Amino acid sequence: MSKTFIHVLVENEVGIIQLNRPKALNALNRKMVDEIVEQMEAFDADNSIRVIVLKGNERAFAAGADIEEMMEETPLTLEVLDPFAVWDRLSLIKKPTIAAVNGFALGGGFELALHCDLIIAARDAKFGFPEVKLGVLPGAGGTQFLTKAMGRRKALEWIWLGESMTAQEAEKYGVVNRVVEAELVEEEAMRLATRLAKQAPISLRLIKESVYKAEDLPIVDGKMLERKNFYLAFASEDQTEGMRAFKEKRPPTFKGE
Ligand code: HXC
Repeated sequence: MSKTFIHVLVENEVGIIQLNRPKALNALNRKMVDEIVEQMEAFDADNSIRVIVLKGNERAFAAGADIEEMMEETPLTLEVLDPFAVWDRLSLIKKPTIAAVNGFALGGGFELALHCDLIIAARDAKFGFPEVKLGVLPGAGGTQFLTKAMGRRKALEWIWLGESMTAQEAEKYGVVNRVVEAELVEEEAMRLATRLAKQAPISLRLIKESVYKAEDLPIVDGKMLERKNFYLAFASEDQTEGMRAFKEKRPPTFKGE
């Protein structure tokens, strides 16, 4: 399957979206963002897909929103068409999402990676918010994601200066999960995706909801949500299978039911 700005493929229950605008370092124009969001939602609704991987190419995951397209905006076109609102749909994806980042992940490209649950980065990947140098600021959640990951002081320093951080720095601040050699990024992302694809899908989504809520809820409310999700897991056949397999000393087979 090929759309204008992305390639889509499926391997072993893993839905893969490759950003495909290489000449512009995968700069994200509106159509491309629409295609990514729609494909993520399609994978999320597809029972044969268990994990979603988002990747770019060797040079860039994505070097940001398309500056040429953005230059044409006015306050009114932005307010009326609200072009960044579509990004909120990425926060509603229930399946595990992994970003495999080679090269540049800047501005909107960094935000796209930060919308994923896990990030695997190449040793020479570069993450940053250069928007300040364009006289603007991150617009698709960058200030929020980075502050939650590294705290206010460090987030302000990075976003104010607009400098790129190395993959190692990003790992130190808890922004990326793993750093590997550039040629191993996709392999590592797929290895992780395949492992997750074997876990009980309903557990994974209840865990995802509980962990994300931990960032926003007071602990008492977060614990209550976790408890309800625990009880809900007992509605699944996978819970019966998981516990039965333990008793029978065999590996479980989870169906997501
Ligand atoms: C449009 C872009 C682009 C972008 C690169 N290109 N980034 N086009 N929008 N964000 C294009 C270049 O114009 C060039 O096209 C081609 O890609 C190759 O880029 P070069 O600059 O020649 O490559 P290089 O010298 O290696 O420099 C790489 C780079 C630089 C450091 C990543 O391209 C760069 O600084 N890009 C802009 C990064 C940025 O400011 N991102 C934030 C955007 S604002 P031609 O036709 O000349 O070959 C943003 C706001 C998000 O993201 C808001 C929420 C969605």
